[in-house]
Amino acid sequence: MSALRLLWVPALLCLTHAWLCYGACVEVDSDTEAVAGKGFKLTCISCKMRGEVVASATVDWWFMAKGESEFTHIYTYAEMTASITDERFEDRLAWNGSKKTDDVQDGSIYILNVTFNDTGTFRCFFDRILIFPNYEYHTNATKFITISVVGHATRGMASILSEVMMYVSIIGLQLWLVVEMVYCYRKIAAAGEEALRESESKKSLKPKA
Ligand SMILES: *[C@@H]1O[C@H](CO)[C@@H](O)[C@H](O)[C@H]1NC(C)=O
Ligand SMILES: *[C@@H]1O[C@H](CO)[C@@H](O)[C@H](O)[C@H]1NC(C)=O
Ligand SMILES: *[C@@H]1O[C@H](CO)[C@@H](O)[C@H](O)[C@H]1NC(C)=O
Ligand SMILES: *[C@@H]1O[C@H](CO)[C@@H](O)[C@H](O)[C@H]1NC(C)=O
Repeated sequence: MSALRLLWVPALLCLTHAWLCYGACVEVDSDTEAVAGKGFKLTCISCKMRGEVVASATVDWWFMAKGESEFTHIYTYAEMTASITDERFEDRLAWNGSKKTDDVQDGSIYILNVTFNDTGTFRCFFDRILIFPNYEYHTNATKFITISVVGHATRGMASILSEVMMYVSIIGLQLWLVVEMVYCYRKIAAAGEEALRESESKKSLKPKA
């Protein structure tokens, strides 16, 4: 049983975090609730349509504070170099995306010390060049993330509920497995006995030499 339980963990991780198992690119949505004074990761992932094609990408971030009507450019990541272009975010942004590669698919950034002034909408822009043997192809992708800043972390009902459901389903599946195993064992044992009885009765029917 304990070996079984050990199997569950990677299996669940594979189900819920598929990219951990296969290294495949999955476009996860960003969290939207930041806590003042804490760090916050703005997730922005843009997968290549075909993972095997060589590519290079640059990532740009814009920010429009709540109440403003235009986006301001705040951050650029190109050729593995980052630069912050807005003084409101000076020394407060760190790269959290793909590391040690020009082929960026994860363009996430990290706000080191969230303030209430960070409430608003972030825009993330991928500019990608796909490199084929004879030509290059430009694509781009834009994502918007609207965040709210709270004083203390709150936990959504949905998150609590989904955790409870996870445990219920794990326990349910294990119980089902045990019941199934017992059922199969009994069935096999019964079939074995029957076969034994049958062969014995056949033996006793045979005329003795
Ligand atoms: C994101 O950046 C922060 C600040 O530099 C760092 O502490 C954290 O480990 C980074 N996380 C990832 C997944 O790169
Ligand atoms: C975060 O910002 C607040 C307000 O600007 C400041 O008082 C605090 O010292 C900062 N914390 C860190 C860890 O930089
Ligand atoms: C937030 O914005 C207000 C108004 O622009 C400014 O006075 C204040 O210093 C800002 N606070 C932080 C922590 O940057
Ligand atoms: C993004 O791609 C679209 C269509 O492929 C193109 O029309 C647009 O000009 C591109 N935008 C930028 C900023 O490169």
